[in-house]
Amino acid sequence: MKSIAVFSLKGGVGKTTAAVNLAHAAATSGGRRTLLWDLDSQAAATLLLRAAPGARAKARAALAGDQPIDSLIEPTAHPNLSLLPADRSLRRLEGDLARADRGGTIRRHLKALAPRFDRILIDSPPGRSTLATELFRAVDLLLVPSIPAPLSAAAEAALADELGRLGKAAPPVLLFWNMADRRRLLHRTLLDARPERIAIPSAAAVEAMTARRAPIAAFAARSPVARSFASLWSAVEMALLRS
Ligand SMILES: Nc1ncnc2c1ncn2[C@@H]1O[C@H](COP(=O)(O)OP(=O)(O)OP(=O)(O)O)[C@@H](O)[C@H]1O
Ligand SMILES: [Mg+2]
Repeated sequence: MKSIAVFSLKGGVGKTTAAVNLAHAAATSGGRRTLLWDLDSQAAATLLLRAAPGARAKARAALAGDQPIDSLIEPTAHPNLSLLPADRSLRRLEGDLARADRGGTIRRHLKALAPRFDRILIDSPPGRSTLATELFRAVDLLLVPSIPAPLSAAAEAALADELGRLGKAAPPVLLFWNMADRRRLLHRTLLDARPERIAIPSAAAVEAMTARRAPIAAFAARSPVARSFASLWSAVEMALLRS
């Protein structure tokens, strides 16, 4: 099993969008037994993938070990893709993790889930937190979206700094552009400065995900943005080979 956390210090840059579309790519075109683990109490990824109305809030209790985390896993409408849903109880997870005598909660749960899955994608809330540090120490790859903007380099440097403090415990990082618009000079300049980085275009199909409650490839498989996510998934698999 390989685990990938979609993370960024900034909010609203496309973490949830990427987590859902990449999990779908892993499960369908990649044929991997895939789990999307929603660790954000906003539960946006859960909303997009959940096949049936959710149960009562209990994710926090399961994470704290009161209940096996397996029992929360739900099937989705997509082959090979399962969901470990978030709910509002996760608002208090940060306090639980900070109070725990030793870290490693996320790592332990990932280990327990490993026999059932080939790929686990984690959607996380933005910013520095105890959860973020736990994720850094637990996952095989950190996938980081960044919107082409003058300050994106500063945010990337801040994250590199954060990870640098973990030394060898830090995971490899794969950065990608999101909401890229080549018609804009600034975007073109930033994109051309990093030709190796995959760019997900700004696209109406992404916004349609909410109304459809589905990954883009499930309703607009031939769109450029769906193809970009497929390329990004290939890049993730390549990065995992090197990790
Ligand atoms: N490539 C894109 N093209 C157009 N809209 C996009 C694109 N990527 C994301 N969006 C839109 O931008 C908004 C934020 O995206 P998303 O929820 O994925 O970000 P996030 O990083 O998970 O946010 P948060 O930090 O709040 O969890 C959403 O409304 C989403 O539909
Ligand atoms: Mg999100």
